Amino acid sequence: MKHIVIGGLACLAIAAVAITAQSAGGPKPEPPPKATSIAELAERYDSSRCIDCHEEIYYEWEESLHARSVLGSPRTAPTIITTIEKGLKLFEYSGVKEDSDITVEHLMMCMKCHLPQLDEATDEVAQEIVATIRGWQQAYRENDWDTVDELEDTLVSLNIGCMVCHQKVALIHKYHDGYPQPDTVYGGLEGDHDDEEYVNMAVAPAIGESIFCGQCHGQGPSFELDHPSQCATAYGSYLFAYVAHGGSESCQDCHMYQSELGHNMQAYRDPTMIEMALDVKVEGRSIFWRKNREEGVIPIGIIDVEIYNKTGHAIPDG
Ligand code: HEC
Ligand code: HEC
Ligand code: HEC
Ligand code: HEC
Ligand code: HEC
Repeated sequence: MKHIVIGGLACLAIAAVAITAQSAGGPKPEPPPKATSIAELAERYDSSRCIDCHEEIYYEWEESLHARSVLGSPRTAPTIITTIEKGLKLFEYSGVKEDSDITVEHLMMCMKCHLPQLDEATDEVAQEIVATIRGWQQAYRENDWDTVDELEDTLVSLNIGCMVCHQKVALIHKYHDGYPQPDTVYGGLEGDHDDEEYVNMAVAPAIGESIFCGQCHGQGPSFELDHPSQCATAYGSYLFAYVAHGGSESCQDCHMYQSELGHNMQAYRDPTMIEMALDVKVEGRSIFWRKNREEGVIPIGIIDVEIYNKTGHAIPDG
């Protein structure tokens, strides 16, 4: 019963946030023309111009995995190929026998979160991405480092850049807040914006809330897909294991502010985050123990290890 009451209150809270917030979304815009090449899609979401006025943020972002969300650490790109070879090509009803059968819809199994703007591209772009990853792997095998570097740059040009977060996925409750407008950057301010293309600034009510990160950081299987995939689940764990037990900090609180990493959102690769992750208490003692007649008195050690997870979710994830 207690759980039901708490659940009811939580729903009210979400409704209240939605009703009081202001933002400058608008009617659903015409979808932009489909990008027909990686270069065109990368150009549309290019973050490099933002460096002129947001230098520090740019350099922080550049260090993060968001800045290479298709290449990854670089484990992501090879895993996309495994998905194709060991998944799509073996599934009877996927329609994929050759790379040339791959469509945007197929890659959305991964790109839904790793490159959400792929929905603005043609199927040829999906195939070009796959060909680029294969070329990069082949160049690796042949120790052809110039080609490795060149193709790596192409893969890195596809990323979760500034305008993915500050426009494409910035507004979550679109029936209320409206749809992101093509001339606007969404953040915490409103007014004119100095940039030549994104000339307005408007408020994204939830960009400072965990739900914003939750859009890609996963609750479990992506059931809305014809073939659900599951990768990250940190947001599910955050809601059901952390918030439900009284945790009150947001993803941004820990990952951007307390860590002082800002847009360089990091996890276990960063010493500050490692420091913030766990309390470990180890106690040890040794004693002599009279075991039995045959073995007599033997030395034994007792080690007590207590590990307390201070993060906002299960670790590791994914
Ligand atoms: C629900 C969103 C979502 C989907 C769908 C998704 N991923 Fe991920 N993936 C993430 C996030 C977020 C991370 C990083 C955080 C983590 O590990 O929790 C991640 C991490 C990874 C990593 C480790 C990253 C690294 O750089 O080492 C690999 C590999 C990966 N994903 C591959 C895939 C593949 C392949 C698919 C499609 C079959 C896929 N993902 C689908 C969100 C997703
Ligand atoms: C993964 C999503 C994400 C990406 C990518 C991203 N941002 Fe942000 N940005 C945020 C969030 C979240 C905040 C903080 C919102 C809050 O706390 O209210 C923020 C805040 C900001 C702010 C205002 C706060 C400040 O620190 O001045 C600016 C300006 C900004 N971002 C610019 C950029 C630029 C430029 C890029 C690309 C180099 C970028 N962002 C990439 C999510 C993102
Ligand atoms: C010519 C300079 C200029 C360029 C180029 C520029 N910005 Fe800005 N931007 C500003 C200024 C100035 C502000 C207002 C900052 C303030 O008042 O704190 C701002 C504000 C913002 C905000 C809202 C900040 C907040 O506190 O919520 C976001 C988001 C943002 N810019 C993103 C971007 C992105 C993404 C790009 C690249 C596409 C970009 N900007 C390019 C000058 C620029
Ligand atoms: C548009 C989707 C998207 C949004 C929004 C997003 N992320 Fe991510 N994030 C990813 C993906 C995809 C990766 C993994 C990239 C890879 O390595 O392949 C990632 C990686 C990370 C990592 C590094 C994980 C690791 O294993 O090192 C952290 C930390 C992180 N994100 C935190 C955040 C936080 C905090 C927010 C909200 C402020 C956020 N992200 C918003 C998609 C997203
Ligand atoms: C109370 C602080 C705190 C909160 C809240 C929090 N995190 Fe974390 N998170 C951490 C710390 C510390 C780590 C580093 C530990 C690690 O990576 O093993 C981490 C690790 C991660 C990782 C890497 C997981 C892995 O495989 O090890 C991801 C992804 C991530 N956080 C995303 C998020 C997202 C998304 C949210 C909000 C839904 C969030 N975090 C909320 C502190 C927090």
